[in-house]
Amino acid sequence: GKAGYDHFMLKEIHEQPRALRQCLQGRVDELAGEVTLDIDPDISRVQFVACGTSYHAALYGAALFRAAGVPAQAFLAHEYAIQTPPIEDDLVVAVSQSGETADTLAAIREADRRGADTLALTNVVGSTMARECTDALFIRSGPEIGVAASKTFSAQLTAVNLLALATVGAGDEDVRELIGALRDLPANIQTVLDSSDARSVARDYVDSESFFFIGRGYHHPVALEGALKLKEISYTHAEGFAAGELKHGTLALVTPDTPVFAVVTGDDEAARKTIGNVKEVEARGAPVIAVTDGESDVERYADAVLEVPSTHARTAAVLANVQLQLVAYHIANELGRSIDKPRNLAKSVTVE
Ligand code: F6R
Repeated sequence: GKAGYDHFMLKEIHEQPRALRQCLQGRVDELAGEVTLDIDPDISRVQFVACGTSYHAALYGAALFRAAGVPAQAFLAHEYAIQTPPIEDDLVVAVSQSGETADTLAAIREADRRGADTLALTNVVGSTMARECTDALFIRSGPEIGVAASKTFSAQLTAVNLLALATVGAGDEDVRELIGALRDLPANIQTVLDSSDARSVARDYVDSESFFFIGRGYHHPVALEGALKLKEISYTHAEGFAAGELKHGTLALVTPDTPVFAVVTGDDEAARKTIGNVKEVEARGAPVIAVTDGESDVERYADAVLEVPSTHARTAAVLANVQLQLVAYHIANELGRSIDKPRNLAKSVTVE
């Protein structure tokens, strides 16, 4: 049942601390500063294939591998299946909650036909992808009933961190610090859930007809996901962008009627550049909602703030996404939408 929540989606959003603990369980040795998985693929290059929310996790995963010095790219599975890139020593990783998405299966089968090793990163142990791929890494979220992916996306982000740390490390980053940030993630999500102002932000902006989401680096997939979630469950138009891309055209649509969610954490170059983009939209009169840890001065340019605890940029992306899940949920709820079963959508898309 819904355990007292109005919707499965809200229940699943609140289950995230537990889902992530399960994902991390037994895989992280903090004393040794090591991540161990029961798979040990040889990795020199990586191609990720996925659709929808899982594609956003794939974009994030590819960025983690590149940060460790490993060439990695994410592809939309349906595009990959029809225009397959050259495969050299690539491990092809399918990211799929269900393990049944036909487009992703087609991509994996093509990669397999071309001789690649394949890895399924999935939630469903007996799924077709788990069976057909060379290996499988399970995200261990438990069943997700809401059609819109929520806890499984957070677990995909967590699992792909584990995959990168276990196989290729973290480049210039301090592995122990990253392991600590992953360990802190369930408690930090709980803090977000307990203190979020997403409901009041949703009430303030529920009447808007169009929303934009921007983020840079690890926050780019979060911006894409924030927009997708809002579209799926509220039926409101939304677009997510790499923050730097907005001014290359879409800025023409930015007005006082288009709220912009800006994900800005830390106070590094990425944050400073995104704040530059925030100033551009603020100058056009757009309401700005900053999703931030308060490390930078982005709040000066924001009409509202959704706070996240301070942590590494990689884990901050997960926390920022939780705020955006709550925003999407509360906007959809204010509008009386069918949140757990949005129109036209199915939990698992088994046709190409
Ligand atoms: C979004 C959503 C879809 C799925 C996509 C891939 O909330 O649920 O975009 O992410 O259909 O599904 P899986 O991950 O099962 O391959």
